[in-house]
Amino acid sequence: MNTKGGVGKSTLVLAVAETLTAIYNKSVLVIDSDSQASVSSMLMTSMRLHKLQSEATTIVDLLANTVLQHQPLDWPRYVVANTSDIDDASGLYLIPSDMQLTLFEREVSKESQHGALRATIQSLLDGVRSAFDVVLIDCPPGLSVLTESWLREADFHISPTKPDYISVCGLEVFRRFKSLNPEMGFAENLGVVVNLMDPNGAQDRDYDAWLRQRADNRCFTQPIHRSVSLQHITQFSPEGRSWLGKYPGAVGVSIKSIAAEILERIAASDRADVAAAATNGSPAAETKAVGAS
Ligand SMILES: Nc1ncnc2c1ncn2[C@@H]1O[C@H](COP(=O)(O)OP(=O)(O)OP(=O)(O)O)[C@@H](O)[C@H]1O
Ligand SMILES: [Mg+2]
Repeated sequence: MNTKGGVGKSTLVLAVAETLTAIYNKSVLVIDSDSQASVSSMLMTSMRLHKLQSEATTIVDLLANTVLQHQPLDWPRYVVANTSDIDDASGLYLIPSDMQLTLFEREVSKESQHGALRATIQSLLDGVRSAFDVVLIDCPPGLSVLTESWLREADFHISPTKPDYISVCGLEVFRRFKSLNPEMGFAENLGVVVNLMDPNGAQDRDYDAWLRQRADNRCFTQPIHRSVSLQHITQFSPEGRSWLGKYPGAVGVSIKSIAAEILERIAASDRADVAAAATNGSPAAETKAVGAS
């Protein structure tokens, strides 16, 4: 999440999902919560995406059936297998999106169904948490009612940012939003990923250093440089390719480093929960740690 657009949110979701699956052998679910369906179209051909949208098996249909039609939540029906164009991504699954998402959000607001929306998001996350090792949700820029529900129900948020003034302002708006209504709950900050960095640009280096000075940003160690290969990963290749072919050289090294640090930080948070529960004598955190491992 970053309220600023074009900072690499969808690109990072794709790269981390494919890397966690292909390199770290994790089962990963990507939930596309952006009406532009960017990450859905990065994971399959337009024809296949169009078919899924026509068959009403997207996140919009899942949410509309549950929140507006009051039907039971049947999330496995919306999970698509065999996505991605890399050979070794059999553990990668997707709940795709559709342009109609904006209309759904309008209906939720018109009918004051915000509580029902949040309850559905909570039940959905409870279900998928126990079925996948990692669940990645791609949010649009801005703070819609749906994005707010994800942010209040998810375990963690990650904020990609460009090393420039506007993207850093986007982070600041997000931080202020998080500080409002703390009683409503909010995801823990897993960290800020500096993306689209020009290693030779003095201004980029200054913004990178400035972001890292703020300890509560929890910047990931590895910045991601602006590169032609990362620009190209967003184009689905029907012929298929290897992970190394898609993420060659320095790009692969930086994405692997980010994915490894994500796993380490999740594990560290789980350990802290278990330790806190042991101190308080509560069995609840142990259950969470097992569910998220
Ligand atoms: N490290 C990178 N190097 C080169 N191009 C990149 C990199 N990261 C992202 N891009 C490109 O920048 C553009 C924006 O990326 P992306 O769509 O992932 O951003 P976003 O934050 O999801 O945007 P939106 O807010 O519209 O959802 C895309 O064209 C993508 O290919
Ligand atoms: Mg996006």
